[in-house]
Amino acid sequence: MDIIISGANGRMGRMLAETAKAAQSNGKPYHIAARVDISLETDPAAGTYAALEQFTGKADVVVDFSNHAATKKLTDYCLARSLPVVIATTGQTEEELALIRAAGAKIPIFLSANMSLGVALLADLVKKAVSVLPEAEIEILEHHHDQKLDVPSGTALLLAKRIAEARPDSPLVVGRHENGKRSPKEIGIHSLRYGSEVGTHEVILSMGNETVTLKHKAENRSLFAQGALAAAAFIIGKAPGLYDMRDIVG
Ligand SMILES: NC(=O)c1ccc[n+]([C@@H]2O[C@H](COP(=O)([O-])OP(=O)(O)OC[C@H]3O[C@@H](n4cnc5c(N)ncnc54)[C@H](O)[C@@H]3O)[C@@H](O)[C@H]2O)c1
Repeated sequence: MDIIISGANGRMGRMLAETAKAAQSNGKPYHIAARVDISLETDPAAGTYAALEQFTGKADVVVDFSNHAATKKLTDYCLARSLPVVIATTGQTEEELALIRAAGAKIPIFLSANMSLGVALLADLVKKAVSVLPEAEIEILEHHHDQKLDVPSGTALLLAKRIAEARPDSPLVVGRHENGKRSPKEIGIHSLRYGSEVGTHEVILSMGNETVTLKHKAENRSLFAQGALAAAAFIIGKAPGLYDMRDIVG
C-alpha cells in the first residue's frame, strides 16, 4: 500500500511514518510513497515534498494530519487523482466541511477527529448513557498539550455530536464565561491546555444524586497512527462516500 502523508513533518505525521515502518518490518504491506509538508524541502530522492501537487508518483491513499486550512488543496489533489483519503486533521470550518462532503460524492473519504478504537467505544458508551439518563447535566472535559491549535478539540465536538443524536434539544456551551446557573439541558465543553498531554476526554453525567463519569486517556500518539493505517487499509477500494470509525468498529 503506497501512502502519501500530508503533514508529514508534524508530531502525528512523523509518528505515522515510524508506525508504518515498524509495521512493514513485521510484514505489513505499508510503504510511504511521499512525505508532504509545507515545512519540508522538495527532494524527490528523499521522498519529501513541500506541496501535494509536486508528487505525481504511484499512490494508493493519502493520510492527512496537517492543518484544516489545507482542506481545499487536499480535496482538489485527491479528486484530480481519484485517490481515497483519510482526513485525521481536526478544526475544519463549515466551508471546509462542505468541501469534504462534496468531494465525498466522488471519492471515498474517511473523516474522523479521533482514530482510536477506545474513543469510538467511548462515543458509543456516551450515547448509551445519555439515552439511559436523559435528564442528566452533561459536561465534557478535554485535556491536551499546550501546542494544540483547535479549541475545543475535534474529539470533544465528536462526543457532543453523539450526545445530540440521543438528546437533540441540548445547546452546546463552549467554556462558561458568564456568571449564573447552567441551563439543565446544556452540554458544557471545557478545554485544558498544558505540557505534553496527548489527549484525555471525560464526559460527566450528573443526576444530582448520582454521577457517572466516562473517560478515555491516550497514553501516546501511536494509537492514532495505528488507527489511521487501519483506516487507510479500510478505505482503499471503497465506493465514494464519507466513512468514519463507526464503519470500522460497527
Ligand atoms: N484524528 C486523530 O486521531 C488525531 C490525533 C492527533 C492529532 N490530530 C490532528 O491532526 C492534526 C495534526 O496534529 P499534529 O499534532 O501532528 O500537529 P503539528 O502541528 O505537530 O503538525 C502539523 C504539520 O502540518 C504541516 N502543515 C500545515 N499546513 C500544511 C499544509 N497546508 N500542507 C501540508 N502540511 C501542512 C505543518 O508544517 C506541521 O508539520 C491536527 O489537526 C490535530 O488536531 C488528529
